[in-house]
Amino acid sequence: MILKIEELHKQLESIKIDSEEALENYRQQYLSKKGEIQALLADFKDVPKEDKPKVGQLVNVLKKRAQEIYNELKAELGNNNNEDEVAFDLTRPVEFSHIGARHPISMVRKEIIDIFNRIGFVISEGPEVEDDFHIFTALNFPKEHPARDMQDTFFIEKDPDIALRTHTSSVQARIMESQKPPIRTISPGRVFRNEAISARAHCIFHQVEGLYVDKDVSFADLKQTLLYFAKEMFGEETKIRLRPSYFPFTEPSAEVDVSCNICGGKGCNVCKYTGWLEILGCGMVDPNVLDNCGIDSNEYTGFAFGMGVERIAMLKYQVKDLRYFFENDKRFLDQFTGAY
Ligand code: DAH
Repeated sequence: MILKIEELHKQLESIKIDSEEALENYRQQYLSKKGEIQALLADFKDVPKEDKPKVGQLVNVLKKRAQEIYNELKAELGNNNNEDEVAFDLTRPVEFSHIGARHPISMVRKEIIDIFNRIGFVISEGPEVEDDFHIFTALNFPKEHPARDMQDTFFIEKDPDIALRTHTSSVQARIMESQKPPIRTISPGRVFRNEAISARAHCIFHQVEGLYVDKDVSFADLKQTLLYFAKEMFGEETKIRLRPSYFPFTEPSAEVDVSCNICGGKGCNVCKYTGWLEILGCGMVDPNVLDNCGIDSNEYTGFAFGMGVERIAMLKYQVKDLRYFFENDKRFLDQFTGAY
C-alpha cells in the first residue's frame, strides 16, 4: 500500500494539463469517489492495525496534495484563457484607432463661411425657435399673405406666434434691429419645414444667409460677390447667371445658377442638359424690410442672399439623394474623410 501511495505521488507530480477536458479527467482519476485515492481507502481495512495510523496519515497527505495540484492546474488553465492577465507584449504592432471625420455638411458649411470671411463677412447666429415677426412680418410677409405658404411652417401648438424658423433670413431681421450699418454678415443655421422627406427635400436642413447693408450698396456688388463665391466654391472657371424671381424681402429678387461643374456647361444628366445648376436666392433688401428693422431706407441700401448647405454639398460631391446626409451611414460618411 505504501508503494502504491508513493507511485501515486510520482504520477501526480508529473501531470501536465492543457485543456478543461484533461483537468476533468484528472479529477475523475484521482479525486472522485471512483478515483484511485478513494480506492486506497477501500483497501485500508486490510492494513494491519498497528500500521493504520501511519498509513492513514500517508493517504491523507496524498489526498491533500492531489487536491492542491488540482487547484493549481485549474488556476493555470484559467489564466491562459484570460488575455487580460497576460503580460503586455510591447513589440505588438499598434492597432489603428479610427478617429472619425467631419460630417460633409459641416465641411461645406465651414467652406462657405470661410469664403465669405475672406471678404469681410462676420458670422452671426439667431434662434431656431423664432417668433412670427422675425420669420415673416419684419421680412415683408404681410399677415394672411399667400407668400407665407411658400414655406410650410412648424408652429408651436401653444402659441401660434412662435414657430421653428423656416429660413435663416430671420437672422437678417435680428441683426438689422440690433446693429447699425455697415453690416456685412453671414448666418449659418438649421431650418425646419413641414415637408415630406424625399431625395430632394427634408424637414430639417441647413442654410447660410448673407446680408450686406451700407450706403450705396448696389446690385452690381451683389453680383460680383456671388461670382466670387461661385468661383471659390466650384472652381475658377465657374460662371453664374441670375434669373428674375420673387421673394417678399428683396426687390428686385433673383435666383442664381452656376455653370454645371460636371459637364462644364455642355449639358449632362446632373444639370438636366441645361448646363446650369441653381444654387441660391438673392436680391436687394426691400426698403420695407430695412424700415421694419429700424434702418433708414433713404440712407441705406443692402443686398441679401440665402443658400441651402445640403444643395451645395450635393452639387459639390455629386450626391444624388439628400437623405444620405441624415442617415449617418458610416460607409457614406467615410468617403469624406480628409476631404477638407
Ligand atoms: N429665405 C429664402 C429661402 O429660404 C432664401 C433667400 C432668398 C434668402 C433671397 C435671401 C434672399 O436672403 O435675398 O428660400
